[in-house]
Amino acid sequence: MTQALRLGIAGLGTVGVGVVKIIRRHADLLKARTGRPIEIVAVSARDPDKDRGVNLSGYAWETDPVALARRDDIDVFVELMGGENGPAKASVEAALTTGKDVVTANKALLAIHGQALAEMAEAAGRVIRFEAAVAGGIPVIKSLTEGLAGNEVTRVMGVINGTCNYILTRMQSQGLGYNTLFEECAQLGYLEADPNLDVGGIDAAHKLALLASIAFGTKPNFDGIEIEGIEHISLDDIHQADDMGYRIKLLGVAQRTPRGLEQRMQPCLVPSDSPLGQLEGGTNMVVIEGDAVEQIVLRGPGAGEGPTASAVMGDVCDLARGLRIATFGRPADTLVEAKPAITGLPAPYYLRLALLDKPGALAKVAAILGNAGVSIDRMRQYAHAEDTAPVLIVTHKTTRATLDIALEDLRKTDVVSGEPVALRIEQV
Ligand code: NAP
Ligand code: HSE
Repeated sequence: MTQALRLGIAGLGTVGVGVVKIIRRHADLLKARTGRPIEIVAVSARDPDKDRGVNLSGYAWETDPVALARRDDIDVFVELMGGENGPAKASVEAALTTGKDVVTANKALLAIHGQALAEMAEAAGRVIRFEAAVAGGIPVIKSLTEGLAGNEVTRVMGVINGTCNYILTRMQSQGLGYNTLFEECAQLGYLEADPNLDVGGIDAAHKLALLASIAFGTKPNFDGIEIEGIEHISLDDIHQADDMGYRIKLLGVAQRTPRGLEQRMQPCLVPSDSPLGQLEGGTNMVVIEGDAVEQIVLRGPGAGEGPTASAVMGDVCDLARGLRIATFGRPADTLVEAKPAITGLPAPYYLRLALLDKPGALAKVAAILGNAGVSIDRMRQYAHAEDTAPVLIVTHKTTRATLDIALEDLRKTDVVSGEPVALRIEQV
């Protein structure tokens, strides 16, 4: 009989247990599809006594994931613990240097250490696969590295943090405020252990760094991503955007521009009737544009036991079949440094200002924008509060750098109260 592919799984939480369940449930199917049995040899987690709802008695238990990674009776080390350093990094390094291939769902680890780990893997003749690290159950890594390999990719964008999309769409549909929904996400267990990874845009930016690397042949450059979270998005912004035919989404965009690689993860307005605008709840969507394919849209569950384990198993099956692709879709030593674009491509912006309700206030705002070179497309005043009048402005296309000059001057005037809100309107 063809030799089994032997796995060591470190991490038996949401994703790890999901992987164990699939391997137990679909043993025959997996063997039929890959031509060989897929077996779990050993597992590791912190608490050996925890009831994980799955029978682990047939597998050796390792208290130390590094020891698991070094075992000579496994072929593939499956890292499902998480964290950009600590045991995840140490055990992945141990696995590679002792001749194991690696499958991981760990976007933080790869966004920060991906280049070094890819080089280490290649030096050892091993591969690292990470389908589950980006957009959960959506096979976006496979699409980019394999299905779209014949394209020059021009832009990749997506809604790739389910928690943020859940919050933003519930604000829209239920009229609930950000703080209420943050608490709801905490109760439902949707937030990462450090919630700032979700609502601060960091988790999604980790994922974007990996997509950009594959799409543009650059070393993952997490530090080069302009990141802004959703914490300051108000119900008022959601409603005003809706009124103008837009939805607010935490949108990641990576694109090649004449000025370098633009990578940003920030709340943006997108047309309500676009696929991204229609995306509800915790679902993810990735839009890829290439010179030959034009545009494709991938949509599906971005997190959870089943979808994420499904993606891990796709990688495991590839290894069982003997499919070996370089970590970021090409040899690590051919990846180039990403040259970050100093200023992003121009776009229209949505501005919301609380203006003191006194003569000449609007004229001052218009003058500041005009002096900075920002042209107004539409403007309206609505719902006077006590002594302020909220003003909504949509600009013509401008760069963020130009807008920032105007915003700085607006903050200094005696007619704007509070912090102005400025959101990019993305052409999708
Ligand atoms: P989780 O539920 O918190 O599980 C983490 C597991 O790692 C637990 O079993 C824990 O052991 C184990 N662990 C932690 N530190 C360890 C150590 N020092 N030694 C041995 N085991 C250790 O996490 P998860 O949601 O499954 O996520 C796992 C990975 O998948 C992360 O990289 C995450 O970003 C990624 N991911 C998750 C999702 C999702 O929907 N959950 C989606 C995409 C990607 P104990 O159980 O004993 O505490
Ligand atoms: N916290 C992440 C999200 C989990 O909400 O999308 C999946 O990576």
